[in-house]
Amino acid sequence: MSNSTEKDIYILAIESSCDETAAAVVKNGRCVLSNIISSQIELHKLYGGVVPEIASRKHIEKINQVIQEALDTAGMTLDQMDAVGVTYGPGLVGALLVGVAEAKAISYAKKLPLVGVHHIEGHISANYIENQTLEPPFVCLVVSGGHTHLVVVRDYGKYEILGHTRDDAAGEAFDKVARAIGLGYPGGPKIDKLSKEGNPDAIAFPRPKFEDSPYDFSFSGLKSAVLNYLNGCQMKGETVNRADVAASFQKAVCDVLVEHAMLAVKDSGLHKFAIAGGVASNSTLRAALAEACEKHKIEFYHPSPILCTDNAAMIGAAAYYEYIAGKRDGLDLNAVPNLKLGER
Ligand code: KG4
Ligand code: ZN
Repeated sequence: MSNSTEKDIYILAIESSCDETAAAVVKNGRCVLSNIISSQIELHKLYGGVVPEIASRKHIEKINQVIQEALDTAGMTLDQMDAVGVTYGPGLVGALLVGVAEAKAISYAKKLPLVGVHHIEGHISANYIENQTLEPPFVCLVVSGGHTHLVVVRDYGKYEILGHTRDDAAGEAFDKVARAIGLGYPGGPKIDKLSKEGNPDAIAFPRPKFEDSPYDFSFSGLKSAVLNYLNGCQMKGETVNRADVAASFQKAVCDVLVEHAMLAVKDSGLHKFAIAGGVASNSTLRAALAEACEKHKIEFYHPSPILCTDNAAMIGAAAYYEYIAGKRDGLDLNAVPNLKLGER
């Protein structure tokens, strides 16, 4: 795809908001020349979740190497880049700061424009990479470890939030339930796998709704229901069928996500729907959404699993659209741990 200035735009993108140190080279927002991800999962597994201080230290150790690898894989140098894109929020402040400081140093040393990117905008933009024809407007369900949002993407960089979680994010619920049934961290992929051996209708877990805002979510009650069920079994001396618990919990999450998402698409009057974020790689959720979209004649877009979880290619895609819209950040760019979508 070429852009209106007819010159190809190459962006070096950096992502370090949580436990992945990642760098990518992206051409014209949609063509990924490299996408290097150094995951810290093995390190954090020992503690049952991400330890912020350890994450920051590991990012510092890895970031230069990951960036060099991204440039080498793309067969390019910093001098050939047109801009540096970096996640500046939301996320863990110490982790974000490593990427932001690195991007600022490169921007200063190589006189490259600096473009700060919202992490969730990055997740949404992952859809542009593998769906070359996808253009806004569309509805997007963002489901990650820290976020659960239903968003109308009106235009590149223009978001209207329809609903969000009132407590835990979907991924957080996956991680907490996985821990409760002894699967370890990160829970999402493990529940996804174990569920295939279980009966999703074995246990009736709640599917919370809000009458006043039908696009909002709540997952903490569901998490508590799972914990109560496990305690109940323990008190009665019954053995827990972990696969049934995983499958029934996952079905409850998927039912709520699918129902709310389909309602949002219908009410928006749009016919395009996309998913984004780590939980969007869940196989049951993807299948359920594909089926619902087919039934309602909605075009369904989804990044491949590797582009759903944290990566820098998605940051490069988002940075490109910010860049061509003329957005530039100065060397005063700071990490904003609780940055809201659509804010700058
Ligand atoms: O988007 P992401 O990589 O990081 C954040 O921005 O939060 O999402 C990570 C979350 C974790 O909670 C992880 O358990 C969940 O995504 N996740 C999954 C799956 N793969 C990752 N949840 C359900 N099923 C999966 N296959
Ligand atoms: Zn993420």
